[in-house]
Amino acid sequence: MVKRVVVTSPLPGDAVAELGRRFELEQCVRHQQRDEAGLIELISSADAVLTLLEDSVTRGVLDACPHLKVVANCAVGFDNVDVEAARERGVWVTNTPDVLTGATADLTLALILAVTRRVVEADTFLRAGRFERWAPDLLLGSGLEGKTLGIVGLGRIGSAVARRAAAFGMRVVYTGRQPRDERAAALGVEPAPVFLPLDQLLEQADVVSLHCPLTAQTRHLLDARRLRKMRPGATLINTSRGPLIDEDALVTALEQGVLAGAGLDVYEHEPRVDPGLLERKDVVLLPHIGSATLETRAAMAGLAVRCIIDVLEGREPPTPVVRGRLDRREPTSGPG
Ligand code: GLV
Repeated sequence: MVKRVVVTSPLPGDAVAELGRRFELEQCVRHQQRDEAGLIELISSADAVLTLLEDSVTRGVLDACPHLKVVANCAVGFDNVDVEAARERGVWVTNTPDVLTGATADLTLALILAVTRRVVEADTFLRAGRFERWAPDLLLGSGLEGKTLGIVGLGRIGSAVARRAAAFGMRVVYTGRQPRDERAAALGVEPAPVFLPLDQLLEQADVVSLHCPLTAQTRHLLDARRLRKMRPGATLINTSRGPLIDEDALVTALEQGVLAGAGLDVYEHEPRVDPGLLERKDVVLLPHIGSATLETRAAMAGLAVRCIIDVLEGREPPTPVVRGRLDRREPTSGPG
């Protein structure tokens, strides 16, 4: 039987065409947010699905898709997939690490610079016709040299951010579930990033940047109490997942002047953004574009496609987050 593959959105690059050469392919022509019933309707007879982070692959979806062998998520994060339910059903879940590390780290630095040097505010100022002359105190920001960057999660992207920040003369400290001394030493950054418990990192860092996955343990990692621990005048950057921060508490911390600013690419209730953030000049807000370069997005699609081809042809995919069964049987049809 020809295997059926569904791709839930158009994607940059030409990788998806290969799926059409090997399998029966349905690729959605528009990207749209679907509820559980909508996703089930789309993929209930699929052997493989290539999903975006907005597609919630719930237990209910997995139950309604008995043929499904692989969910290839076109993102490094996979909090949109119920991985436990997939594991129980022998369904592979794959993601797209590595290929987006550089692009996401670059965008993190772009946000750090945009907030600390007031780039967006300055652009708005000029476009409003307010640039009358050079002035010594016009739009003063703060420099990065000699400042401390606190990285929450020294994984692939956190490490790439550490290397870039060191090139700007920043001292780097990091936190995570446990110290990663070898990884920190291997970064080639002088001095090697030092591990600190989260509260201490918040007390010391001038810029705090989040790079950990969203899990039950990290949801609201930065709540009101932790935001109050941040050094006065510090900047908070998030290019990971919105729910890591209690967004209401962040608005309050900004209103109270606890923080000097924030740079966000992700939101707690994405794509909705708290109106309290929208009206502030000291925050820079981006529409979840961390990995959005043409090269990177094409590479992500290519990797997700590779994962689907491998699983459907009986090989291990290169980037599994849940190992499924390669011989997942077709469901037997009922009597009659
Ligand atoms: C984007 O947010 C990703 O997880 O790749």
